[in-house]
Amino acid sequence: MSVIQAPRGTFDVLPADAARRAALEAHAARILEAAGYGRIETPTFEATELFSRGVGAATDIVQKEMYTFDDGGGRSLTLRPEGTAPVCRAYLEHGMHKLPQPVKLWYMSSFYRAEAPQRGRYRQFWQIGAEVIGSATAETDAELILLLAELLQSFGVREPRLLLSSLGTPATRAEYREELAAFLHAHEDSLSSDVVARIDLNPLRAFDSKDPTTRATMRAAPKLLDRLAPEDAAHFQRVREMLDDAELRYELEPTLVRGLDYYARTVYEFTSEALGAAQSTVGGGGRYDGLMEQLDGPPTPASGWAAGVERILLGAPEPPTAAQPVDLYVAIATADAGRAAFHLVSEARRAGLSAQLELAGRSLKGQLKQADRLGARYVAIVGTDSEVALKEMDSGEQTDYARNAVIPTILRSHTLP
Ligand code: HAM
Repeated sequence: MSVIQAPRGTFDVLPADAARRAALEAHAARILEAAGYGRIETPTFEATELFSRGVGAATDIVQKEMYTFDDGGGRSLTLRPEGTAPVCRAYLEHGMHKLPQPVKLWYMSSFYRAEAPQRGRYRQFWQIGAEVIGSATAETDAELILLLAELLQSFGVREPRLLLSSLGTPATRAEYREELAAFLHAHEDSLSSDVVARIDLNPLRAFDSKDPTTRATMRAAPKLLDRLAPEDAAHFQRVREMLDDAELRYELEPTLVRGLDYYARTVYEFTSEALGAAQSTVGGGGRYDGLMEQLDGPPTPASGWAAGVERILLGAPEPPTAAQPVDLYVAIATADAGRAAFHLVSEARRAGLSAQLELAGRSLKGQLKQADRLGARYVAIVGTDSEVALKEMDSGEQTDYARNAVIPTILRSHTLP
C-alpha cells in the first residue's frame, strides 16, 4: 500500500510557508482597510447557476474548470472558481444597496479551478480581491488599480508590469467582432489555417497567433480601442490621466483578453517576469457594470480585481524569516517533575512569555540541546526540589530561584517586544 497523497494541483501550507502567507494577508488588510474596504467572506460553494450566469456560460472556467456536484437533494453546487459573482450575490442578498454607496469590499479566500497544474497554477489557490460596488466613476477604476500596484510593489513583487485596456460596452464589442471577422475573411490568404478555422468561433484569438505571417497581417487589423463609443473613450481617458498623475506606468494592450465575460470598459492585468513567461499574470480585474443585472439585480456599476496569493509569493523575493523568539524553555530534570514543569510553563504563557515545555522525554543534555536549537533565552530546569535552576543561555550563567520567583525574574530581565 502506498501513502495517500494530496490531489494533483493542490498543496499543503506547512509552518515554514505559513508565516509569509500571514504576512501577506496582514499587508493586504493594512492597505485595503486604510482605504475603507471592509472584509467579506462568502461560502466555499455556491449554486452552480451563479457562475454560469455570472462568469459566462461560454467561458473556459464554466465550460471546463468547475468542480460541480449534486448536494444530494438534486441541487447543483459548485466550488467557487472566482470571487466577484459571489460578492455580487451577497450584495443583493443583504440589501447592501441601502448602505451609503459605493460599498467597498475585500477578501482573501480559496478558489477552485480544474486547470492543468504547473508552477503558479493550481486547482486550489488563494486570491486577495477588492470590489467596489455602486460607483461608475473613472476615479474608482484608478483607485483600484493604484491599490493593487501598491500591494504588489510594497510586498516586493519584482518588476510588475501593468497592461491596460478598455473593452467598451457589449454592443460595441459585438459590432467590433463582426468588423474583425470581416477583416479576417478578407485576408484569409495571409492567415494560418487554424486562425481561419476559428474566424467565426472566436476572431479575437487571431491576435494570439504565433505564426509570423498572421502576426504581420494582424498589425493592420482594426483594434477595439479605436472603436469605443465617445462616453467609453472619455471614461478610459480619465482613468489614464489619473494613472499618469499618480506616475504609475502602464502599457496599452489593445488586445487584452480576460477569461471572464462580465467586463465592460476598463480592464487590466499585472504581470511579473519573476513568475516565468507561461504564467506571468499576478493579478487582474476591471469594470463589470452589467454583472448585477445578469444576476437579476438592479443596474449597479461595479469594478474590482483579484491577485493570486501563490503568484504574489512566487514573484516576491523571500525575506529572511525571523523565527518566533522563545523566551523560556522548561526542562524536566526528573521523571516526577512533569506536573511542576507544566505549571511553570502555563504561568509563563499567562505572563505573556513565549514558552515551550519539553514533550519528547529527552535526557537533560538533550533538552538543553533542543533549547539551544530553538534559540531559547532561558531554560528553567525543574526537578522535585522547591527550587528551579534558571540558566541564561547567552551567558551560560545558572542561578537557583524559588519556583514562584522564576517568571518575575525573567520579566524583569528583559523588556518584551
Ligand atoms: P482572474 O484573472 O481569473 O480574475 O484571476 C485573478 C488572479 O488569480 C490571476 O491573475 C492569478 O494570479 C490568480 N489565479 C487564477 N487562476 C489561478 C490558478 N489556477 N492557480 C493560481 N492562481 C490563479 C478573477 O478571478 C476575477 N474575479 C477578478 C476580478 C475581481 N475582476 C473584477 N473583480
